[in-house]
Amino acid sequence: MRVKVPVIAITGTPGTGKTSVCHVLESRYGYNILSLNALITRRGFYTGIDHERGCLIADLTRLCEYISMRRREEAMRGDKQKALVIEGHLAHLLQPDIAIVLRTSPEVLAERLRHRGFHARKIEENVEAEMLDVILIEAVELCGWEHVYEVDTTGRDINSLAQAIHEIIDAWTDGDRAKGRGDMRMRRESLHRRFRPGTINWLLLLPPT
Ligand SMILES: Nc1ncnc2c1ncn2[C@@H]1O[C@H](COP(=O)(O)OP(=O)(O)OP(=O)(O)O)[C@@H](O)[C@H]1O
Ligand SMILES: [Mg+2]
Repeated sequence: MRVKVPVIAITGTPGTGKTSVCHVLESRYGYNILSLNALITRRGFYTGIDHERGCLIADLTRLCEYISMRRREEAMRGDKQKALVIEGHLAHLLQPDIAIVLRTSPEVLAERLRHRGFHARKIEENVEAEMLDVILIEAVELCGWEHVYEVDTTGRDINSLAQAIHEIIDAWTDGDRAKGRGDMRMRRESLHRRFRPGTINWLLLLPPT
C-alpha cells in the first residue's frame, strides 16, 4: 500500500526558534529536515539579491520542485517513509500539507534578535510582523485553517516544544492507512483545538492608551 509522505512546514517570524526546534526533531525523532536557508544558499535556489534587506530572493518555483522530488524519493522507501519537514520563514508558501507556525512574544523576540546582532530597523520590522500575525495569516490563507497549528514558544523549553510538534506531525503521518483512520482524525482535531490558529493575540500585551 502506498502511504502518502506528508510535507510539514515549520514556519514563523525570524527568531521564533524554527531551526533550534528542528535540530531536536532531527536528533531525537529522526525526521528529515530541509532547511530553506541552506537550500537557498547552498543550492542556489534564489532569483536575485534584495540589497535593501541584505538577503537573497528565494526562488519559490525551484524550491517547490525540489521538495516534490524529495517527497517522491521518500515515497519509494516503503515502510520506512517519514514526513518531510521544511523549516524557514517561507516554508508555508511551499504547498505543505500542514503548517506549524511558531510564535514568540514581541518582547522576548526582540531580545533574541538583539542578541543575534540584528540592526534596530530589522528588529522593528520583524517584531511588528510578529505582533500583526503576518505569517499566521498567510499560512491560514494558503494552507486552510484546519491545516495550521499555532505554537507559542515563549518561555518554553525546546525539548517540550519538539515533543508537541512531534505529536502534531505524527497525527498526520499515518493518515492514509486504512486502519485507525477515525482515531487519526480525532487526534488531529484534538491537537488542533490545543494549537488552534488565532488563539494568540500579542496586541493584548500592549499597555492601554
Ligand atoms: N524555545 C526557546 N527558548 C529560548 N531560546 C530559544 C528558543 N528557541 C530558540 N531560541 C533562541 O532564539 C534564537 C533564534 O533561534 P533560531 O535560530 O532557531 O530561530 P529561527 O526561527 O530559525 O530564525 P531564522 O528565521 O532567522 O532562521 C537562538 O539564539 C536560539 O538559541
Ligand atoms: Mg533558522
